[in-house]
Amino acid sequence: MGYKVTFLPHNVTVEAEKDETILEVAMANEIELEHNCGGNCCCTTCHIIVREGEQNLSPMEEEEEDRLEECAELTPTSRLGCQCKVHGDVMIEIPERDPFKLDGLEELEGYGNELLSSEQ
Ligand code: FES
Repeated sequence: MGYKVTFLPHNVTVEAEKDETILEVAMANEIELEHNCGGNCCCTTCHIIVREGEQNLSPMEEEEEDRLEECAELTPTSRLGCQCKVHGDVMIEIPERDPFKLDGLEELEGYGNELLSSEQ
């Protein structure tokens, strides 16, 4: 029997096996969770916020803690989706990313144009 992982804001609940990471669970269920470094604890794009069941995730290791400090939207229950493993039922939220805080500029392409056209 698997555990239940609920993803917000989609409000989708899926089954997960023990020790699967949140990123693995998301990918297996076609839930979009960015993972620019491929799940190697080298970026913060897989940032998630735990809403329920914090104790049902594997404890945070130092590497994850250090990396999370670089995350612009850090909250007291933030984790990296590629580092925390499921040990029970959890509810997590994939935070909306602020386009002004992205590391990569490509994602900003066209953003200014959109603003300009909306002012007309
Ligand atoms: S995917 Fe880069 S830290 Fe998780």
